[in-house]
Amino acid sequence: MDLTRVDEIIDEHTKNGERSYPPVIPIMQDIQAEYRWLPEPALVHTAKRLHVPLVDLYGIATFYQSFRLTPPGEHQINLCMGTACHVAGAPLILGKLERKLGIKAGEVTEDGKFGLDEVRCVGCCALAPVMVIDTDYHSLQGKTDVGKIIDEKRKSDEKVSS
Ligand code: FES
Repeated sequence: MDLTRVDEIIDEHTKNGERSYPPVIPIMQDIQAEYRWLPEPALVHTAKRLHVPLVDLYGIATFYQSFRLTPPGEHQINLCMGTACHVAGAPLILGKLERKLGIKAGEVTEDGKFGLDEVRCVGCCALAPVMVIDTDYHSLQGKTDVGKIIDEKRKSDEKVSS
């Protein structure tokens, strides 16, 4: 794995000299923004460069829900399981999505196309239940066929690639 970009990110965050403890979380956030997840070689390299135990980085990565230790799908589906969405039927929708995609929450389809995650409130409770695909917000109010949204996404991908 080419770690040039990881080095650049670390350099950007440490250019003002040594601190008692390096800004590990912002560095990890930027690495994830770059790769969409935290690849192991990037974490190992970061730990070495910052002189921080690797276990600390894994501790942070597993504590905060926003960090990923596995590659996301090409399209990431985040189903909101916050209170408003939960009350509005998100658990039923989750079951439908899992059946449609053939995976459980936290997994990625075999072809790598779709990843499915449960997330906390995404900040638009009035639209509950809410599903976010990549950066597109979908209100599922009154929608019974969530599989149709997945099918449409697949079709639009096929159009782009043909
Ligand atoms: S609880 Fe789902 S958007 Fe707030």
